[in-house]
Order: sequence, then structure tokens, then C-alpha cells
Amino acid sequence: MEIKIAPSLLAADFSELSTAIAAIERDADMLHLDVMDGHFVPNISFGMPVIASIRAVSDLTFDCHIMTTNPTAYLEELAAAGADIITIHLEAVPDPTEAITEAEKLGVDFGVVISPHTPFAAMEPWVESCSMVLIMSVHPGFGGQAFIPEVLSKVEEARKWVDFHGLMTDVQIDGGITTETAGRAAAAGANVLVAGSAVFRRDDPAQAIRSLRAAARNEA
Ligand code: DX5
Ligand code: ZN
Repeated sequence: MEIKIAPSLLAADFSELSTAIAAIERDADMLHLDVMDGHFVPNISFGMPVIASIRAVSDLTFDCHIMTTNPTAYLEELAAAGADIITIHLEAVPDPTEAITEAEKLGVDFGVVISPHTPFAAMEPWVESCSMVLIMSVHPGFGGQAFIPEVLSKVEEARKWVDFHGLMTDVQIDGGITTETAGRAAAAGANVLVAGSAVFRRDDPAQAIRSLRAAARNEA
């Protein structure tokens, strides 16, 4: 299984975004962008204007994790800003049929996300329509939290579902990923690992990505 690393820009120095992105551009597989509205989650990060600005300095796949109320309303603007993949929470939109249709129309890849308390069953009806599914391994809203190991059983369920149905869907995990937890996530079946602190809070972010990938590959 090919392991992809998606550094989360949330942990970068926001006064030097282009420098932060340049440091990971060659080693990252995608750039994870956490959009938060202070309503769906108790934190506010950044939105379309920032995504549009950084689009000009990066060719990476922009993986946009939308933590807002009514995310479907923003799909068009996110796509226009440069999103390549948009993932939305099933806690915000239990039936994403409209969002799936809209994403298809806009030509962006689509995914669904579940928070730690939501069972994998909530995701089952939508996996086939998703290019990626995301299992949160922390409560959404903040970087730098501790990994919640209980979610690994949901990663296993997602991997089994994808493989059993012969799908190409990526299984992504987000939150508390370090060189210690990356191996456990990959062993459970995750092939896309988001890492904020473990990349951008390191002296050498490119080397940090390579270390995470190596740790995950050993267990995949
Ligand atoms: C949390 C975000 C994560 C966060 C991960 O709501 O979805 O993407 O940036 O940060 P770390 O890797 O530091 O846990
Ligand atoms: Zn995220």
C-alpha cells in the first residue's frame, strides 16, 4: 500500500505561509487545509481567501477538510479558490447526496469525515461516492492533540469496506500523527496520514515527512 503524507498547514507559521509550503512542496503528497468556522468547531482558522492566495505558490493537491456548519454552501467557492479534494463532516451533513452531486459538477474530488464519536456505519452508504474517507483521530478543532487509539478499529472497518468492494478510495487519518502513531495507523489500513505538528513544528519539515512515511511503510 502506497503511503501518502498530507502536512496540515494549521501548524505552520501563518506569517510565512509561502516559506512553509516551499519547505514541504517536494516531499508532501498533498497539502491538508483545515477550514474552521467557530461554529461547527470551537476554533476559527482560515478560508477561501487564504486558499486562493497559496494556490499561486503550490502545485500540491489541496486537500480541504471543512469543519463548518453547512459546508455544502461553500463547495463552489472552495473549488474556485483551488481546492482539489473537499471533505465534509457527516456530523454537519448526515446525508451528503447534494454535496456529492455538486462536487461532481464542479469537478473536485469529494470525501466524508467522521469525528471520534461517530461510528463507521454512518459512512458506509457514501464510501463508494468518495475518493477519500477521513477518520478523525482527535476531536476536530485544534492541532497538537493526543492521538485517540480507539478510532483504529474504524480505520480497520474502512479499509475492509474499501477492499471488499474493490474501491480505490483513500483511507485518511487526521490528528495526533507522529512517528510513533503513524505505524499503528498504517497497520490498521490508513494510506493517507495527515500531520500538522509532526511536520511544521519540526526543524526540518521535509525530513519529518520522510520519517513519517518510513514509519508508516514499515507497518503497512
Ligand atoms: C484538527 C485538524 C487537524 C490538525 C492536525 O481539527 O483537522 O488536521 O491540524 O494537527 P496535529 O497533526 O498536530 O494533530
Ligand atoms: Zn484536518
